Amino acid sequence: MKIEELDKELEAKHMRGFWKFQKGAHAPETPYLWKWDDLYDGLVKAKDSVDIRETGRRSIGLVNPSLGRDGTSRTIFVNFSVVNPKEVAEAHRHTAAAIRFIVQGRGAYTNVEGEQFPMEEGDLILTPNWTWHDHYNGSDKPIIWLDALDVPLISPLNVGFFELYERDVQPASFRRGEYAQRFGFARVPGREKEGRKGLPFRYPWTDTYKALQEIRAEDADPCNGSLLRYINPVDGGYTLPTMSCEIQLLKPGLKTKLHRHTSTACYHVFKGSGRTRVGEGYLEWSKGDSFVIPTWLWHAHENPGKEEAVLFSLSDQPVLEVLEWYKEETQ
Ligand SMILES: [Fe+2]
Ligand SMILES: [Fe+2]
Repeated sequence: MKIEELDKELEAKHMRGFWKFQKGAHAPETPYLWKWDDLYDGLVKAKDSVDIRETGRRSIGLVNPSLGRDGTSRTIFVNFSVVNPKEVAEAHRHTAAAIRFIVQGRGAYTNVEGEQFPMEEGDLILTPNWTWHDHYNGSDKPIIWLDALDVPLISPLNVGFFELYERDVQPASFRRGEYAQRFGFARVPGREKEGRKGLPFRYPWTDTYKALQEIRAEDADPCNGSLLRYINPVDGGYTLPTMSCEIQLLKPGLKTKLHRHTSTACYHVFKGSGRTRVGEGYLEWSKGDSFVIPTWLWHAHENPGKEEAVLFSLSDQPVLEVLEWYKEETQ
């Protein structure tokens, strides 16, 4: 029998010979940069044209054109949400873990599992998988935050579940700061290990920025400048089992060393401007822009300006490490 005939027969029975497997079917993910002006324009238009009571959320996702499906990378989906004054984003929960990094505005809160976490610019708030969360903007200005979820990672595993809460807003059954206290250094016996999948938690910008500025020169990372990782306060591990959140300060004139790793990172420029060499090209960024550095591409950051630059980022490193796929090289 000719091989072509065999291929036809197999195809009709939904089988395929090893010799026919499509080479290159998995196209490489490419670096990409989204400009703040484009995103902001979309958010301003959505603010007036999208009714949050109908859609539940008013967010715009960053879709990497090399993927062919929703996602900023194959593991992380970065979105930006806008909530108008006195609006509620209804309570729900999902198996996708999410983080929020506040980009613009203040005076809103996110209620996670019964505690209202204030939202101020630069704060990071966690909603670990399957935790109830709703948002309320009590201020008189719209608030914008970055929402990142591990949806592209969990969707192919068929574990993407979602539920609406019985009411739009959860009752505030915990006082502010209660989760942080419960998981402080003195704990109720039996609760020592609780919270390993992440906690309802807020990392206030004032604390983060102070810590960032006080990193000693000898502790700076040659490939990242002054970098902090947001740790899980229970076990000291990554922010969440599926995503690591980090923040880095690039001092004026800094040019980092080239490195590459098997993890993919999604960046948001919180402050300043600069550029990142990725592969053979450069991504030129300024405040509000977002960009993605795919797996295993050599990259280095530069801040040629006179002002400091601050980059917030997310990566899938925790997943790669636990599965023993994490590798890193430095030049
Ligand atoms: Fe959500
Ligand atoms: Fe890197």
